[in-house]
Amino acid sequence: MNIRKGILVALAVSLFFASCSSSIKTTGAKPISAKGLKDYYKDFFPIGVAVAPRMLHGEDSVLIVNQFNSLTAENAMKMGPIHPRENEYYWKDADSIAAFAKKHRMRLRGHNLCWHAQAPSWMFQTATGDTVTKEVVLQRLKDHITTVVNRYKDYVYGWDVVNEAIDDRDSIFYRPSAWYKICGEEFIAKAFEYAHAADPKAVLFYNDYNTENPKKREKIYEMVKKLKEAGVPIHGVGLQGHWSVNNPSGEELRKSIQLFSSLGLQVQVTELDVSVYAGRQGGQLVQGRSDTTSNFTPEMEQQQRDQYKMFFDVFRQYKNKLTGVTFWNVSDRYSWLDGRGRKNYPLLFDTKRQPKKAYWDVVNFKAAK
Ligand code: G3I
Repeated sequence: MNIRKGILVALAVSLFFASCSSSIKTTGAKPISAKGLKDYYKDFFPIGVAVAPRMLHGEDSVLIVNQFNSLTAENAMKMGPIHPRENEYYWKDADSIAAFAKKHRMRLRGHNLCWHAQAPSWMFQTATGDTVTKEVVLQRLKDHITTVVNRYKDYVYGWDVVNEAIDDRDSIFYRPSAWYKICGEEFIAKAFEYAHAADPKAVLFYNDYNTENPKKREKIYEMVKKLKEAGVPIHGVGLQGHWSVNNPSGEELRKSIQLFSSLGLQVQVTELDVSVYAGRQGGQLVQGRSDTTSNFTPEMEQQQRDQYKMFFDVFRQYKNKLTGVTFWNVSDRYSWLDGRGRKNYPLLFDTKRQPKKAYWDVVNFKAAK
């Protein structure tokens, strides 16, 4: 063997060993395998995570890059934060998330363009504080959507265009939001049209929670079917996936995926977390101090493992319909659910950012033949 060949062999051998031991080390924590959720699921669908700009540095960022291949801005792209006043946009936070996604070659979901919550009050008011007309609010919605979608055209592959427009009460169809009160149901179709005009390549979603509740599922189906039949550019339904250890059942989840995809739409799980407290699903934040003394009991842990395993078994079965699964936050260190007055443990990484047992249940599956 000549010297050149020898150096090359030595280099190859050292690179091999380096890659075998290449685990991500987080300060004061055990190493995490170099293989991430995104790698285990590479033949199924991208695995995403909702982030705030503060997570793009330090230990969270290491975990994010190691485990996920898609990002969603938890708050930074919403109407209130990004467009606080009529003639003022605040781009910094959303830009930093878009730049991080691009740098690390991650996909980026846009969240969201039209929602009843976190909508700025100026949107619905005249300078003297009266409620604006339908024409004015639709023009403002158009300006907002056109500007935001245009800015992130080269970064965002798909948008949650309308979020949570359907009511949770069985007897009420549309949520009586300011959008609805001023425009009637028309704002929904308009939002999709404005988004499509701004970026014809973007995949456009209707996104909601409680999508496995039979009554709400039926209402969403009816609304989306009507939109499709009217030629509105809608391409997918987002099941938020704010679930719990006892809800929903695999059967209800399957029904939702089947029903929405029967319309020729793609389905994504857009905001996955599994609350350790049994109870109803819900998408609204109840502000409160988080009680960090609550324990993650062995019962909670087992129930959550069973539920996560079941969800991902179903997700894999529907890999041809599901085009993404996104977690709502990175680790149990911080979750929006902590704001309900008690500490929650809804994710696959613990408060030290280490994989929980549920993580291994999710990634150790037998590949289908
Ligand atoms: O922006 C202020 C900041 O200036 C201030 O320092 C801080 C102090 O509390 O509050 C900040 O705003 C909070 C924001 O999160 C950023 O932390 C809001 O009060 C708070 O309401 C907001 O909560 C977000 C919630 O949407 C709003 O309803 C959660 O982080 C976010 O996880 C949650 O996400 C929603 C999805 O978009 C839609 N589906 C349901 C899901 C959970 O509610």
